[in-house]
Amino acid sequence: MDKKRVLSGMQPSGRLHLGNLIGALKNWVEIQDRYDCFYFVADWHALTTGYTNPSAIKESALDLLVNFLSAGIDPDRSTIFIQSMVPEHAELHILLSMITPLGWLERVPTYKEKQQEIQDRDINSYGFLGYPVLQTADIVIYRANYVPVGVDQVPHLEISREIARRFNSLYGEVFPEPEALLTEFPKVLGLDGRKMSKSYDNAIYLGDSEELVGQKIKTMMTDPARVRRSDRGDPEVCPVYQLHKFFSSPEELKENAEGCKTASIGCIDCKRILIKNVIHRLTPLWENRQRLLQNPKMLMDIAHVGSEKAKKAASETMGLAKEAMGML
Ligand code: TRP
Ligand code: SF4
Repeated sequence: MDKKRVLSGMQPSGRLHLGNLIGALKNWVEIQDRYDCFYFVADWHALTTGYTNPSAIKESALDLLVNFLSAGIDPDRSTIFIQSMVPEHAELHILLSMITPLGWLERVPTYKEKQQEIQDRDINSYGFLGYPVLQTADIVIYRANYVPVGVDQVPHLEISREIARRFNSLYGEVFPEPEALLTEFPKVLGLDGRKMSKSYDNAIYLGDSEELVGQKIKTMMTDPARVRRSDRGDPEVCPVYQLHKFFSSPEELKENAEGCKTASIGCIDCKRILIKNVIHRLTPLWENRQRLLQNPKMLMDIAHVGSEKAKKAASETMGLAKEAMGML
């Protein structure tokens, strides 16, 4: 098997929404045959900001695993695991932390941003500063070639490349320099027209019921120019239409755009079609979720088998790293 290796992870920091599905998970699912994929739940990373409530992290970790699986990540084709079940990540993290200059970490834009954003807890910790070092360990411990990430994660990946390079030049070639596999997606907009995000309370969650999805889309913001049914609209400025682009067929898109511009359809008609399509897209996920939640043993088995597979690959790399350092 000569497939290139892909690794990506997500923090279990709450429920997933349509933005996460379209922006990340969908892509993870699609590349499963093209690459040797490792996907994991980054529960230790969630501790950097959520250390006051670790049991909540534990719970969301399982929920995230359910989301991975129900969205179509297939444990027979990909290696799916939970970070804390593969302690080799921590072992490599400590080795990498020795060769990572503080300046590299302090320079990461998300470091200062997050610190400013989070005011209710003290996150001025060693672990939080080291977030990108742990992330590097996650990646290079599988000698991954590609990391599917959003543009916001590119500075983190740049550090990973630098750390890998530094290790290789100090001790010998062990780690390939990971490359970003950028997924360019227009932002998915939320109910209020801002970027869909947990923190804006404007999201449609993968775990929402059919009824709730309908209710949410009905209240969704439209082109503000369409006050009355007879007003013409511009689909390009309408968040509902942005969602249509992900969920509706080309014919439906065309009909809704025409209907909007000529005021021959109302927003209610337009939304009804979107609701139908979002529900159609989510139904298999809901069914899978039900099946998994009814069978917690199966879920734990998947986590264990995946983590064992990951552990095997990780400990092989640890051997190489220690050997290169002359510490085996
Ligand atoms: N920082 C990622 C996030 O947005 C999670 C993560 C941890 C990750 N380790 C990784 C992503 C390694 C890609 C590769 O939550
Ligand atoms: Fe938006 Fe559709 Fe209403 Fe046009 S008809 S403003 S696209 S909801």
